[in-house]
Amino acid sequence: MTELLKVTGLSRRFAGGGLFRKRKVFHAVSDVSFTLKRGQILGIVGESGCGKSTLARLVLRLIDASEGQVTFDGVDMASLPRRELRRLRQRMQLVFQDPYSAIDPRYSVRDALLEPFKVQGVKLGSPDEKVASLLDMVGLNTSLARSYPHQLSGGQKQRVGIARALALNPSLVVLDEPTASLDVSVQAQIVSLLERLRHELGLTYLFISHDLGLVRYFCDQVLVMYLGRVVEVMPSDAEPAHPYTRALLDSSFEPDPRQRRTITRLSGEVPSGYDLPAGCAFANRCPRVSDLCRGVLAPLSTLPNGQQVACHNPLIDAALPAACR
Ligand SMILES: Nc1ncnc2c1ncn2[C@@H]1O[C@H](COP(=O)(O)OP(=O)(O)OP(=O)(O)O)[C@@H](O)[C@H]1O
Ligand code: SF4
Ligand SMILES: [Mg+2]
Repeated sequence: MTELLKVTGLSRRFAGGGLFRKRKVFHAVSDVSFTLKRGQILGIVGESGCGKSTLARLVLRLIDASEGQVTFDGVDMASLPRRELRRLRQRMQLVFQDPYSAIDPRYSVRDALLEPFKVQGVKLGSPDEKVASLLDMVGLNTSLARSYPHQLSGGQKQRVGIARALALNPSLVVLDEPTASLDVSVQAQIVSLLERLRHELGLTYLFISHDLGLVRYFCDQVLVMYLGRVVEVMPSDAEPAHPYTRALLDSSFEPDPRQRRTITRLSGEVPSGYDLPAGCAFANRCPRVSDLCRGVLAPLSTLPNGQQVACHNPLIDAALPAACR
């Protein structure tokens, strides 16, 4: 399987606000690297504010990076002039968390679905046929073309958002918490729609969520972020090696009571992105913390089983090759 997306050392800092305050720097994303193969789903998971959406916007080059590189299908995106970047963007699309923000309330569903073609200057032989086929693709009745966003349910609106993102036949779709604002039963329908579309259209997904249980179900690989940094990258069915991933997994929803684990509640505050500690940012919440952790940041290292973890004292189950566990 060939590589579609390669992210290397990506960082984004924001200047702090306040007229009289000494301007500080907020570290939203720090030194993130990963690769995504064609046809795969990489899940990005972490608590609110850990930098997931900022990373998504950096990957799509909707905002500029402070450092680092994004290579899409072999092309360094920073090297592209504006016009070529616009053309390349047809192949990378974003689905938002909030289906309400994805569609202009003044647009009918038809207008919303035709807008990407207008923006890219693509002439359509039969716009109504295109709208009907896009609605059909996401399981919506074609009569909805004349509806306005306020006449649709949350699930219908998210389906329109997905159809709009797929209108220009992208290769990569970045899904930023696409089910977070929906009821549980509707969430399951949207996840199975996304699964079907991936198979039918050969899509590659970057799937952002704060729910590690959902990410493990839906994705091939999981990348765990904590305060802007990658702390673990693992196959979705692997045992976590990082204490933060373990705690996230233990607190994620498990519908089968026989599978429920003892919940390790995360106590302690997340440090501020303005004042990152010298050592591990998870140290004040970690049950495995040692003196080394407080002074020295653990680099992202590869364990014998291939998963990557940034921790001085990784959990032993994952650190051992499968045969020794
Ligand atoms: N333009 C900006 N200026 C200053 N700070 C910003 C800006 N954009 C994002 N941030 C900060 O960067 C941090 C990461 O934000 P981001 O939206 O990427 O988090 P997230 O993981 O997507 O959170 P959530 O799960 O709540 O969506 C937040 O603390 C946010 O306040
Ligand atoms: S480096 Fe230390 S504090 Fe950080 S997660 Fe690992 S054991 Fe815990
Ligand atoms: Mg977000």
